Amino acid sequence: MPRDELKVFSGTTHPELAAEICSYLKRPLGKASAFKFSNDNIFITINENVRDADVFIVQTSCPPVNDGLMELLIFIDACRRASAGRITAVIPYYPYARSDKKDQPRVPITARLVSELLTVAGADRVITIDLHAPQIQGFFSIPLDHLTAKHIVAKYFKKKGTENKVVLAPDVGSAHFVEKLADLLDLPYAVVDKRRTGNEERAVARGIIGEVSGKDIIFFDDEISTAGSLQDVVRLLKEEDAGKIYASCTHPVLCGPAIDRIKKLPIEELVVTNSIPIPQKKRLSNLTVLSLGSLLAETIKRVHHGESISALFR
Ligand code: R5P
Repeated sequence: MPRDELKVFSGTTHPELAAEICSYLKRPLGKASAFKFSNDNIFITINENVRDADVFIVQTSCPPVNDGLMELLIFIDACRRASAGRITAVIPYYPYARSDKKDQPRVPITARLVSELLTVAGADRVITIDLHAPQIQGFFSIPLDHLTAKHIVAKYFKKKGTENKVVLAPDVGSAHFVEKLADLLDLPYAVVDKRRTGNEERAVARGIIGEVSGKDIIFFDDEISTAGSLQDVVRLLKEEDAGKIYASCTHPVLCGPAIDRIKKLPIEELVVTNSIPIPQKKRLSNLTVLSLGSLLAETIKRVHHGESISALFR
């Protein structure tokens, strides 16, 4: 049964995306304010009644990551104490997603810790997109709707034409993730043989499994962070005499040296979603940003009305 009223609020990380969602839903953005005291403590006030309402809080992960996460937890707490009927955290890019396993002695599983923090704060449900590891879903004891941007990316590339193209997965672990995109485009796919040692941020690409020579490439990753992986992949593709290279990802983290690296790479286009806001200075001339607004809004609508989400991806 739907709760009384659907209300969408925005944290401070991605107001543009929250506005797109509200515009699709033809609803005003919920009134709330966030600020920091001089002692750096975050404070949230919800400036309208949310009693019994079906509340959705849009907050993605982007720098400063810890402030964004803390703000979301405080936002949830404020809604809970204001007697919201149900609280859904809409987190397009999940924080600490890469810290998802204990693969060395004495290291944390921060993605799991985040799931517990959200639950303890009072979230009843989470909506997120293209988790770095889909198994993160299992960290939650509350329902989590795991969406994908693949259909949006596929639609974009389909429009450009698929002749002589191959989809390329960044590593063996992502092959299944990328296979779906290849299916949607009715294209073959190849896989980068990439290996990581220890907690090195950078894994090394050693070769490509599959036929890429003479083909145009659609490289698709869950995220492009420092673009080190992309740099390696482009080098391998050039060694293999691949044709044009289109790089794409769901989450444009684009941190550290990413922009300088991408500028120097012979790629036709960088296609990303707006799961993370991209500041003007990072908007390269070959950047295309696809919006997740309607996907998230439609998901919110369906959650509110108790309708199927998986039907969106058939
Ligand atoms: C790795 O497992 C991910 O799928 C991405 O390939 C990785 O996060 C990209 O990072 P970077 O851009 O720093 O190489």
